[in-house]
Amino acid sequence: MALNSINPTHTEVWKKLQKHHLEIKDITMKSLFAEDSNRADSFTIKWNDFYVDYSKNRITKDTRSLLLDLAKECELEDAINKYFSGEIINETEGRAVLHTALRAKESDSVLVDGVNVIPEVYAVKNKIKAFSNSVISGERKGYTGKAFTDIVNIGIGGSDLGPAMVTEALQYYKNHLNVHFVSNVDGDHVHESIKGLNPETTLFIIVSKSFTTQETLSNAQTIRNWFLSDQFSTVQEDVAKHFVAVSTNLPKIEEFGIASENVFPMWDWVGGRFSLWSAVGLSIALAVGYDNFDKLLEGAHQMDVHFKTTPFEENIPVQLSLLSIWYNNFYNAESEVIIPYTQYLSRFAAYLQQGIMESNGKSVDRTGNSVDYQTGTIIWGEPGTNSQHAFFQLIHQGTKIIPADFIGFTNSLHRDKDHHNKLMANFFAQTEALLNGKTALEVQNELEGKMDTEAIKKLLPYKVFEGNKPSTTILIDELTPESLGALIAMYEHQIFVQGVIWNIYSYDQWGVELGKQLATNILKDLTSENIENHDSSTCNLVKYFKKNQK
Ligand code: F6P
Repeated sequence: MALNSINPTHTEVWKKLQKHHLEIKDITMKSLFAEDSNRADSFTIKWNDFYVDYSKNRITKDTRSLLLDLAKECELEDAINKYFSGEIINETEGRAVLHTALRAKESDSVLVDGVNVIPEVYAVKNKIKAFSNSVISGERKGYTGKAFTDIVNIGIGGSDLGPAMVTEALQYYKNHLNVHFVSNVDGDHVHESIKGLNPETTLFIIVSKSFTTQETLSNAQTIRNWFLSDQFSTVQEDVAKHFVAVSTNLPKIEEFGIASENVFPMWDWVGGRFSLWSAVGLSIALAVGYDNFDKLLEGAHQMDVHFKTTPFEENIPVQLSLLSIWYNNFYNAESEVIIPYTQYLSRFAAYLQQGIMESNGKSVDRTGNSVDYQTGTIIWGEPGTNSQHAFFQLIHQGTKIIPADFIGFTNSLHRDKDHHNKLMANFFAQTEALLNGKTALEVQNELEGKMDTEAIKKLLPYKVFEGNKPSTTILIDELTPESLGALIAMYEHQIFVQGVIWNIYSYDQWGVELGKQLATNILKDLTSENIENHDSSTCNLVKYFKKNQK
């Protein structure tokens, strides 16, 4: 059964939320903290090794209960049941949405068209395990009998961002294999990536759910040509030893010449941007070993159980997505920032950009009508403390309201307390500064005695921090494969909740198709004499490009 279609703005509670927003929008968080000494506790959820403090947000207990009513009126509970049980909730593509099945227990049963998919999931997991063990141990060898030293993941979008982000995030747990990612159809990317590689010891994983993606197929073709080029003593049969593929499109893989035993299947009920838990994560299993890959899945599974079974009041993904809706739809926030205080998560925001924006960047609701309210969160971010020295100025003193997620860890992996305390002092200080700001009186007191009254008067307005800037703090014990899995799953479920409430289809991505179609037409123009009909700007640009290309 499909998800119900409920326009959130037509619910009873929406009007109440609008009224409530008008009542509280000018109240400062600072005063809310002053009024309620238990505020931090009242707005904190502790779960496993997660400590989620959302008290530094522009909400009261009334806001929370109204937002929870919104979730109820939008029938979130029913939607969650449909999500986990394999209903066709991706209606525009006629598919279930079951990345959660990829991390389910072997004893679980998840039906798609009446068939339990868990045995297939475990068959592929076992294949990933056997394959990654044989490559890591050196038992599996290249065409000259040497063990592999390098792995190249060829994919784009969900077939690249997830594995690339996780491999980077779990660098601490890495083995001797060097893992590279080639994604862009920009030839400079692929040529730079292969120039230092030894084909004798390099394994290539072509990852494409559809196996029709131009970028991935072009890169795979270029790499195969390089591998079979005269500079190496390779022959056609060696391709089977060095190329493996992950896809749902088995005929296309065969056409490419990949041996059937080197194919890792996936399923159409796994969306590309949610696929790192499938064989798309093969590069992760190779980089950190299968056991760590499995722990990543286990962490995500724990979060699935939390999301599925915890009352909404204490449910982390539910509470955080309601906050996001609060800012998007009532405060008209234009974007949200995600700041992990660990260099290991340097690709996290880029990864979430696809997950969040490809999913909820939609303007037609589940009845086929255009929405007349905001959907889709714009996500950006970089690790702290680097981002403090880059864009934090705008968050502190700019004109926009930018809700921020601060993700930090109690323990650093290298156990360097000196560095870690400095890092985390910044982490806590930023959320405190965003909350409290700095008043004119505080600035005045700070400057007195350092300059004359006239100079203070001139400088003062620039040194005042308004404060009252919302942030949510997610403090986790340590960056482990389990906690990373749980963190990623937490955001995945937020995407789902927001899509349900916004009454949109979160699991298709038709919006990326038009550009692909037009690029195919323009490629013909670039490689032939004539130029087809385009607007005058595009025509001029194409002509200029063709004339000046060397
Ligand atoms: O950008 C569109 C998209 O379909 C993504 O959703 C997907 O992750 C990516 O392209 C790659 O697709 P594929 O895995 O089929 O090559």
